[in-house]
Parts: sequence; structure tokens; C-alpha cells
Amino acid sequence: MTIKLAFIGFGGVGQALAEIILERKRMLEEEHGLTISVVAVADMMKGSIYNPEGLDVSKLLTCVRESGSVEHYPEDAKTIKGWTNTETIKNSNADVVVEVTFTDVKTGEPAITHCRTAFENRKSVITTNKGPVALAFEELSELAKDNGVFFGFEGTVMSGTPALRMPKTTLLGNKIKEIKGILNGTTNYMITEMEKGLSYEEALEKAQKLGYAEADPTSDVEGYDARYKTAILSNYVMGVPISHTDVECIGISGLTVEDIQSALEDDEKYRLLARITSEGGSVKASVKPERIAIDDPLAGVSGATNAIVYECDLAGPIMLTGAGAGLKETGFSLLIDLIHYHQQLIVAKI
Ligand code: HSE
Repeated sequence: MTIKLAFIGFGGVGQALAEIILERKRMLEEEHGLTISVVAVADMMKGSIYNPEGLDVSKLLTCVRESGSVEHYPEDAKTIKGWTNTETIKNSNADVVVEVTFTDVKTGEPAITHCRTAFENRKSVITTNKGPVALAFEELSELAKDNGVFFGFEGTVMSGTPALRMPKTTLLGNKIKEIKGILNGTTNYMITEMEKGLSYEEALEKAQKLGYAEADPTSDVEGYDARYKTAILSNYVMGVPISHTDVECIGISGLTVEDIQSALEDDEKYRLLARITSEGGSVKASVKPERIAIDDPLAGVSGATNAIVYECDLAGPIMLTGAGAGLKETGFSLLIDLIHYHQQLIVAKI
């Protein structure tokens, strides 16, 4: 089966998926019977290109890397250039829109509009943007369902570490009483460095140099990034719709080396923990620095690594740990979504 993709946005994450599609072409075809054709790339800032019969992904990557845009992609009679993002979503023959634009997580735009447009035009969406799932999950998931299309967003929490799909696949049948996790790599890296004696400022500078923290690290250190991910976990895994503003949120900017060292003296460690506790039909959700016992598995999670624990009534605590960021990992999260989309199509045909 061939699945046709339209990339909306083509920055690092989009390019990482394109790279994976090239590298894994044979494996996807031989092991999954899946052929992926990239028919469009649209990036309002950098131009767009469409060919209903498929673009050459290798040439696409080369021209984007060499010139910064798709403008120099070799044209033929079937190629169209200059469509806007919306025109590409509506008019292309793509089955799946890969929504990887630079989106402001506070408003969720333009990603929310792109998802809505795709669903209204009976196209599936896979995205790594948190906004659509944290801010508009109910509306968008209903819209996708009503139009019989797929909505994949594995990479929105813990990038390619399957924090969303695991509880909805292999852990099915359990009641999840609580989810707790380290969902922001920047702050976990900083806390770990402060355990070694670095000041808050020194730890932040190191995190910025290593590319973990954003240029404006407010969203990381104030807990906002983890708060959006917490809302996504509640909306999707717990099935309890909440807004990010329902999540109590305290970041690490008030945490000092003295606090961290004093915890260590008591055989405890600080971690910026996201916690969602099931309370009947509702949840209590928070992101805040918590002191946990030094032998708690989450205390053993160091550096920029992420981790999540599902407290299951039958299976007990199940912990998943892995990268929470990175281009290859986030590109892979989109591949997970694509393979699951393809598997659903196969099941639907049986
Ligand atoms: N800035 C985030 C982190 C990565 O440090 O974990 C993407 O959500």
C-alpha cells in the first residue's frame, strides 16, 4: 500500500522524518508492505512544491540543505510551486498531512488550524506540535473521528519514546491510577548538574550550550513545557479532558543548590515531577519540584533523559525511560504514527 504525505513545515523534524523514510524504504516495504510517497512540502516561509506522483526525497533534502528552501527543486510538467500551507492541505492528493510547523505552543497556531483544515478535508494528520493536543484535543479528535481519519501525535510527549502509545496498546486492560514522570529534559539536566554543585545559573548556561534549553528557557524552567505534556497525558491517556491551566505548575527557578544539597543529605533527590492522579471521573494534575527517596527509580534518571511511570492496578508500576527530544528521535515518533496508521488501514480492510 502506498501512503502519500504532505509536509507542512520542513524544519529539522520534518527533514529527520524524510531522512528516515529514505533510510528505511526497503524495510518498510518488505516488512510492512508500506510504500511512502512524499507528494508535497509546504513551508510558508520558504516556499512549497507539489507533485501528485511523488517528489524525489533525496533531491528534496539536498536542495533544502544546500539552499535552505525547496525553491531549487528540479521542476517538471507535473510540479506546482507556490501553494500556501492551506492550499497544499486542501488541494494535494496526500492521505496524511505531516504537521511540523514552528508553532507557538501558547496559542497552538498555526498547527491547530492546519489540523482542522486537514480533518475537514478528510485527510489524516501526524504532528509533533503539542498545541493541538494540549489545547484543542476534544474538538480535533472528534473532527478526525467524524471524518473517519487518523490523528497521530506520539512525539508530543517524550519524542520517540512511546509514552502515549504504550498505555493505549500493551497496557490495555489496566486501570491507570496515577501517572508521574520527568517530562522535561532541560530541567532534569539542570537539577542533575546542581546535584554536582553547580549553581542554577551555571547549570542553565551548560544546558543552553548543549542545546537542551531553548534560547528563551522560560518554558522549560517555569514548568510550562511539562505542563502542556501533562495536559496531553490527561486528555489522551487518562481520557479526562483538562486544559494546561488546570495543571498546578511550579518550575525550578526557585530551586537553589542549597535545597538540592540538603535533600541529598537526607537521602532524597529533587525532580521536576509531572503527576496526574485519577480521582473518580476527574484528575488532579501538577508539575512541581518534589523530593523523592534516593532509591526511587525516578531519582535514578539523570541528565536530559525523560521517564514516566504508569501506576497500573493489574500490572503494578510500569516505567518507561528514554530520550524526550532530539531530531532523529522526534522524526521516529512520526514514523511510529505512520506505521500505526498503516496498520489500522490494513485491519479496516480485512
Ligand atoms: N525543551 C524540551 C525539553 C524538549 O527540554 O525536554 C521538547 O519538548
